[in-house]
Amino acid sequence: QKITAIVPAAGVGSRMQHSAPKQYIELAGKTILEHTLSKLAELDFIHTIKVAISDDDGYFDAIPQIDSRIERVSGGTERADSVLNALLSLADNPPDWVLVHDAARPLVCLSDITRLVDDCLAANEGGILASKVKDTIKRGRTHSEQTVPRDDLWQALTPQFFPYQALVDALSNALENGVTITDEASAIEWAKQPVKLVAGRSDNIKITTPEDLDLAAFLLQKQQN
Ligand code: CTP
Ligand code: MG
Repeated sequence: QKITAIVPAAGVGSRMQHSAPKQYIELAGKTILEHTLSKLAELDFIHTIKVAISDDDGYFDAIPQIDSRIERVSGGTERADSVLNALLSLADNPPDWVLVHDAARPLVCLSDITRLVDDCLAANEGGILASKVKDTIKRGRTHSEQTVPRDDLWQALTPQFFPYQALVDALSNALENGVTITDEASAIEWAKQPVKLVAGRSDNIKITTPEDLDLAAFLLQKQQN
């Protein structure tokens, strides 16, 4: 099975409120993007690593060529557009499966990725890493109106692993129909295709706001030792 990785890295990082897009912030000696790409480059089963980069944030040439399988492609307005651009750039010689992983999740552990891929290939179904919700969840605007049962609630993580053609079809149809797409799984669900939930480590955080930086730096340092 030919497997290609796609790394959306074309966001502006508005919630991080940093001068550069967050994927270019340096933590524990390397940029966040470099940490993420180094993790993926350790996986021998990945054929190509397509990184979606913004054309106009000034960093298009700043992609670390740490592995010969890394290729760049222009990103789009929303994350889903960046992923679709990367998918369409593979159309001439498509992979069987794609593994989509946020640039902003450098903490993912390799054994979780391998388990996701193995479980999905064994079941012949797409799937995502996810972690069971731990907090008590409230619904409301200014006051809590309800405590939401959490026994079947998951936090979606990445990587997300789907058959190439199923993901191209689901994402393009969902975008054409104006469906809100925040991850690959939301497009696949909309297309009524299966999304397997594979339990992954909850410290695979998406670095989003300034308070995530110290925690991520600590964990990255720890992983490197
Ligand atoms: N991403 C992308 N193209 C976009 C928007 C986001 O490739 N048009 C990428 C980001 O670079 C990130 C991942 O998708 O690696 C997850 O998105 P998010 O955490 O929301 O990053 P940003 O959109 O950059 O941050 P924010 O929403 O705070 O602006
Ligand atoms: Mg965003």
